[in-house]
Amino acid sequence: MLNFEIQNPTKIVFGKDQLPKLPQYLSNATTSKKILIAYGGGSAEKIGLLAKIRAELKDFEITEFGGIEPNPEFDTLMKAVEICREKQIGFILAVGGGSVIDGVKFISGAINYEGDPWEVLLRLEGKLFTSAVPFGTVLTIPATGSEANSGAVISRSSLKEKRTMGGPLFFPVFSFLDPSVVATLPKRQLANGITDAFMHTLEQYLTYPTDNLLQEREAEAVLSTLIEIAPKVLEDPSDYKAASNLMWCANHALNGNLRCGVPTDWATHMIGHELTALYGVDHAQSLAIVCPRLLEVKFENKKEKLAQYAKRVWNLTGENRAQEAIQQTETFFQSLGIKTHLSDYSDACSDAPTIIRNRFAERNWVAMGERQDLALDEVELIVKNAL
Ligand code: NZQ
Ligand code: ZN
Repeated sequence: MLNFEIQNPTKIVFGKDQLPKLPQYLSNATTSKKILIAYGGGSAEKIGLLAKIRAELKDFEITEFGGIEPNPEFDTLMKAVEICREKQIGFILAVGGGSVIDGVKFISGAINYEGDPWEVLLRLEGKLFTSAVPFGTVLTIPATGSEANSGAVISRSSLKEKRTMGGPLFFPVFSFLDPSVVATLPKRQLANGITDAFMHTLEQYLTYPTDNLLQEREAEAVLSTLIEIAPKVLEDPSDYKAASNLMWCANHALNGNLRCGVPTDWATHMIGHELTALYGVDHAQSLAIVCPRLLEVKFENKKEKLAQYAKRVWNLTGENRAQEAIQQTETFFQSLGIKTHLSDYSDACSDAPTIIRNRFAERNWVAMGERQDLALDEVELIVKNAL
């Protein structure tokens, strides 16, 4: 087993009707009464969640900041940073999905940063967020696991960029996970959530055989559970049993547990972020486009683990089961209503392979994947095959 360290300080409050606990958890987290509630484009208002939160927080001094977009935009977030500085906000409550939560992670780090925070996202040498205003979350869509991890992904569409940030400062203090919100999600977002959770698990599992038998079986449990509940959630999002399993799977897929003691890949995500930045495809769609093609191109590296995945997750037993598992995975995404080629989403994408290759070269991303051997030629080929 590889060496590892793990510390996840986020308190998870899971289940229905837990919001009355919010004032107490806020008071435990900060002595400040000045709270910023950050949310997205209106769904939290529409489903009545914001009204409930306002009612619970009547003894706090609340400022609201709405309009954080899916794939949160740097320019929008900087407006919130200004408001937080001006009002001396002491705690931020993110009400939303991965985009709002990631946006809040960025805001919390940028508030006390002197200089242009974009430098941090560009990972310029010595440019780091060194403090963060504490924050908590009320999750509205099970997908990213952002509610229980310390990563964030921030977009700047004027530059066609999507960049990652993170570090131990950026764990939420608490996260409220109420599976009832799943009932309000459109089919596209349900499918996206299932796909993203599935892919987070695959990125930490479909590498090469490891000695961490527990982590391998935990990953297989998440994958099998997602396969079992996906049709149920899509058929009836108000099925609480299915919804609560989806929410817990999505959390488990990226709360840090599955990476313990095992190699991880993440190349599908790195390529996928570029597809979102360049062509605006949803995050989960980008993963469904890249994943099957990456598994084909890196088949030699991954064939043993693919065979294990085929057997334990898809119950395939034939000699060709490793290849068949790639097809099963693609069919699974398609069964959720997600298309798996870039040209399904954008007509003007024929130059994508070269653009993405060049971007990776500029950033010196020349050795990704679990064996640090994903070459630029392979990146180009994966995107070409994914068109
Ligand atoms: O903006 P509103 O009106 O709230 O609508 C949102 C948005 O349009 C809607 N929605 C959310 N909850 C809803 C709802 N609609 C109805 N009822 C509800 N209860 O869903 C749409 C998508 O929301 P978003 O937050 O963008 O979805 P998701 O949670 O999938 O987050 C995607 C973002 O997270 C990043 C992605 O790159 C992307 O920017 N990721 C973050 C990660 C992390 N921090 O760990 C890891 C992931 O790999 C991912 O990269
Ligand atoms: Zn993801």
